[in-house]
Formats: sequence, structure tokens, C-alpha cells
Amino acid sequence: MSQHLSRRAVLTRTGLALAGSLYRLKGAACEGGVDISTPLKVHASRKGLLFGSAASQRYLKSDPAYAALFAQQCGVLVPEGELKWNVLRPTPDSYNFGPADWMYEFTRTHNLKFRGHTLAWWQALPGWFSSYANQGNARRLLEEHIATVVGRYSGKMHSWDVVNEVVDPYDKRADGLKTKPWLELAGPEYIDFSFQSARAADPNALLVWNENHLEINDTWSRGKRKALLSLLAEKLKRKIPIDAVGLQTHVSTTDPSFDNKEFKTFVRKIADLGLRIIISEIDVIDHDAPANTSIRDEKVAGTYSNYLDLILKEKQVIAVLTWGLSDKYSWLAKFKPREDGLPVRTLPFDDCLAGKKAFTAIANAFDWAPDRSPMG
Ligand code: G3I
Repeated sequence: MSQHLSRRAVLTRTGLALAGSLYRLKGAACEGGVDISTPLKVHASRKGLLFGSAASQRYLKSDPAYAALFAQQCGVLVPEGELKWNVLRPTPDSYNFGPADWMYEFTRTHNLKFRGHTLAWWQALPGWFSSYANQGNARRLLEEHIATVVGRYSGKMHSWDVVNEVVDPYDKRADGLKTKPWLELAGPEYIDFSFQSARAADPNALLVWNENHLEINDTWSRGKRKALLSLLAEKLKRKIPIDAVGLQTHVSTTDPSFDNKEFKTFVRKIADLGLRIIISEIDVIDHDAPANTSIRDEKVAGTYSNYLDLILKEKQVIAVLTWGLSDKYSWLAKFKPREDGLPVRTLPFDDCLAGKKAFTAIANAFDWAPDRSPMG
């Protein structure tokens, strides 16, 4: 507890000392930022960790300052939409790899790792899917999709989110799996064959089970944690090739605390299964935080600190990926705008690409994390 308080105090002092000057875009109506001269990817790599973020082709292409910041700060790029079915599959018989290939080229140019998101998800399906997919063709459709898409980037991917958000206790199945659409169409074994097809298409990429809403002290989250652990244990026993769990971590400044024994035990149990852990989509929802920028930034940064200080103690955690780098392009601006109309301030960089207290919180969490590099 006292350790947390002193870290927050350090964070506050750092924020105050550096606010006002160090990173400012010409002509932008922005506050100055914190010192970002040591990029987040460097803070992470000193401890044998990866730092990266999700981004869209549209903004990397149209905003050179943002693209430069991305390349400077990140070691991993996750296409936010370019590898989803609704972009990749204009028709049942065709593929559109243009946007994803562009993203891959971006990673080559800037020496970043490329991460695949996502193969079997209930959202972002193309318009034709609901009338075309049925119990007779769904397995073939999914297996072919995985073979083609994973095959195209074989040897080039750091990791693939093979299944995404597939546990939902509210669907009231004994195994806790979500029913729609893949389970109803292809049976519960779709998870097994998705991982097997992905492994066959790329033997080297880490194969990830990516889940949301696992860290909160509520009934849904508790049910998800319990179901996920037993599903993972059962599948690993049958040698289904799962390498890692992705904890999405879309947390909020007003969430009930996740600094608790239950969550720590859950994370340890994943590690005990021999799985690696990727913090795959972290951002901090500031929808209900105070309007005052400084107070709001403090709360957002404090939430990053509380979560990362806790989770990075677990040495099986190998990467921290934020869901977006700058507030300017955060999905939350569209999906969870503030009622007072103020811009959301959820990520390490603000609308003007200036580093915020959240940047310092993430950098400090890396600095204080135990070393997992081979020599550490
Ligand atoms: O590209 C079209 C554009 O042509 C069109 O004019 C515009 C009109 O609204 O829509 C654009 O597509 C949007 C797309 O994001 C790109 O901005 C879609 O409507 C919108 O639904 C889509 O939302 C994405 C969402 O996943 C669904 O794919 C969000 O950006 C993305 O941040 C979000 O990411 C998910 C992860 O994949 C899984 N975990 C949760 C996370 C947040 O919801």
C-alpha cells in the first residue's frame, strides 16, 4: 500500500516538474507534455518486455507526426481493424489484403513487430456473413479463412489473437462459452480447430486466446475468470496449441479495485498453466472522471499505475499494448464520448501528441517491473 502511495507521489512530482514545455506541436492549442525522450518501448525493453499499440492505416497514412510518434514509441503494431473479417472479406470468395499489407510494410520500414487481431470474433463480420454462413459451411469457412490469412503472414507475425471474447457466462452454458455466432454455427470445437489451423499455417507465431472484462470485481468478470481457467486447463490437457492469454484491460477510472487477491490468483493460475500473458488492449475509460484536465489525467494515470504495478510483477507477462497511442484516434472518442463534450484523455498521448501523466505512469511501471530478460 505504502509502495503504491509513494509511486503515485513520484508520478505527481514528475508530472508537475515536466509539465509545460518538453513536447509541443507547432500551432496546436495544447498543454505542454511530460518528458517522452526515452520512448515507452525502451522503458519496456530494459526489462525484457514489449510495448506497442493498436493503430489504423487511415491515421498512420494521413498524419505523419502521429506515424513518426508511433514508430518512435512502439515496438509492436496491432492493426485495429485491417485484419478483421469485415475488412479482409469483401465477399465469401475473396480477400482484400491491401490495408493489412500496408500495415505490414509499415512495421518493416520502422522495425516493429506485427501482431494479428483477430481470427474468430463475434463482431466485425462482413454484411454477407449472416445470410451466407450456416451449420453446413461454417467450419470450412473459418478453417479456410485462418489457413489463408495466417498463411499469408506466416513467419512475419509476433502473435495472433486466434479467438477473441469467446467466454460469456450470461449465455448460460455449463462451459461458459459464448454461443453466437461461431459456437452455434460450428460447435464448441471451433476453438480447438481455430488454434490447430493457426498452428498449421504458422508454426512460429504465438497463438493467443484474447479476452475482455477479466479484471473487475463483479459477477460477470468472476464468471469469466472461472470459465476461462477451466477451459484453458481442459484444452491444454488435450494439447490444443494455445501459447498465451490476452487480457484486453479496457478499464475505467471508476471501476471497483482490481488490486485484489482474486485477480492476482487468477493471473498466477494462467502462468501456472505454462501460458504467457499479453496485456493486449489496455486503455483507461475516463467517461465518469472529473472534467478538470489535471485531475482527470491524474486519475487515468493512477489507474494505469495500479493495474500495471500489479500485473507486471507476474513474470509471464511479456507485453503491454495500449489500444491506441493518442487520444486523438481513440475508439473511446466515438464509442464512449464524455457527456460534457470534452475530449477523452484515455491514452499516453493527448490530441496534440504530447505525452501525458499516463505516459509517465506506464514508463514508471516498466522501470519498476521485475526484469524478465535472459540476463535479469
Ligand atoms: O471504416 C469505416 C468507414 O469507412 C466508415 O465511414 C465509418 C462510418 O462509421 O466506419 C468505419 O468503420 C469503423 C471502424 O471501426 C474504423 O473506424 C466501424 O464503423 C467501427 O465499428 C469500427 O470500430 C472498431 C471496433 O473494434 C469494431 O471493429 C473500433 O475502431 C476498434 O477500436 C474496436 O476494437 C475492439 C477490439 O477489436 C476487440 N476488443 C474491444 C475493442 C474496442 O471495442
